Amino acid sequence: MLSPRSVNIKSVRFLVFTALVIFCVMLGLKLMVNLPDPGIYSALDDSKMVSTQLRQLRAQVGRLKILLAKNGIANPYENLESLPTIFAITPTHTRPLQKAELTRISQTFLLIPNFHWIIVEDAETRTPLVTNLLAQSGLSYTHLNAETPKEWKLLLEDPQWKKPRGVKQRNAALQWLRNHADPRKPAVVFFADDDNTYSLELFEEMRNTKTVSVWPVGLVGNVRFERPILDEHDKVANWSTGWRPERPFAIDMAGFAINLKLLLDNPDAEFSFDAPRGYQESTILGAVVTKENLEPKASKCTKVYVWHTRTENPKLNDVKGKVPGMVVDWTVEV
Ligand code: UGA
Ligand code: MN
Repeated sequence: MLSPRSVNIKSVRFLVFTALVIFCVMLGLKLMVNLPDPGIYSALDDSKMVSTQLRQLRAQVGRLKILLAKNGIANPYENLESLPTIFAITPTHTRPLQKAELTRISQTFLLIPNFHWIIVEDAETRTPLVTNLLAQSGLSYTHLNAETPKEWKLLLEDPQWKKPRGVKQRNAALQWLRNHADPRKPAVVFFADDDNTYSLELFEEMRNTKTVSVWPVGLVGNVRFERPILDEHDKVANWSTGWRPERPFAIDMAGFAINLKLLLDNPDAEFSFDAPRGYQESTILGAVVTKENLEPKASKCTKVYVWHTRTENPKLNDVKGKVPGMVVDWTVEV
């Protein structure tokens, strides 16, 4: 016969065992519900790892390009035959912010394969600051200058929007391309102002442009972003902009890239001082493409890969002689 004590122990053991089994089953069920589908999980993980590795490799290539440039050695791997070249045209002008802006964008450009920078100074001659920056940049580049005529120069007291900027410089770059680019080689032309912010994705979006590609631009026109609006066939139907949507191409300069061939086939396509305010983009685009032939990029114009940033002009009290006892040292380049 079993004693009442051993019956008690047995039933306690049974209860503990049952509670443990129930707990384990519940835990198992909860984990199964919360875990992502293992297929999706590993695919996401892999692509994240690949893009991280790709970025790290690009950074290494960028550092090696700088090292080659510093030692005066031409980069033997500059041009991958299989990839179209990206020509980025940048007008730039002397101001306290210039070196900071050019440093920032040149180090982004360093990470882009088959990239050629056409930088055009709004100046009577090419300056030592830009010359040295380019020589040490590790980039493939062309350095030009084209000074804005006096009557079109922004005066210190002028509001920014009063006169168009970059007109003469961009035209000089287009002229250089028409004289020097190899028309048989696939290439795309992009207008990269020196103060914007560019993501690497943008350049891969534009690289295979057949006619003119378009995409959203962030922080422009006093709105969060502007973008082309697509119809049900994914063609550009209209423009979502903070300003003058009635323009034929209501898009910022940073919002499009043009296949080089179109610019070579239309030798008169250029920017103009006579264009109404905000019509520079429409002037060049109207000369090479129609709205129907635009190629929307950046996931059907739902992603922002470029920002129309504008850096605040620094107040330099030392230069104005407003810092007692401080001597302005012009031998240091800033
Ligand atoms: C907007 C557009 O984003 C510009 O592409 C366009 O040229 C300009 O309006 C316009 O309406 O003309 P925003 O930021 O107001 O741009 O222009 P900035 O960034 O001041 O100038 C555009 C480019 O021209 C910059 O790369 C800048 O360095 C250069 N620039 C500016 C000159 O070469 N000379 C100048 O006197 C001023
Ligand atoms: Mn700007």
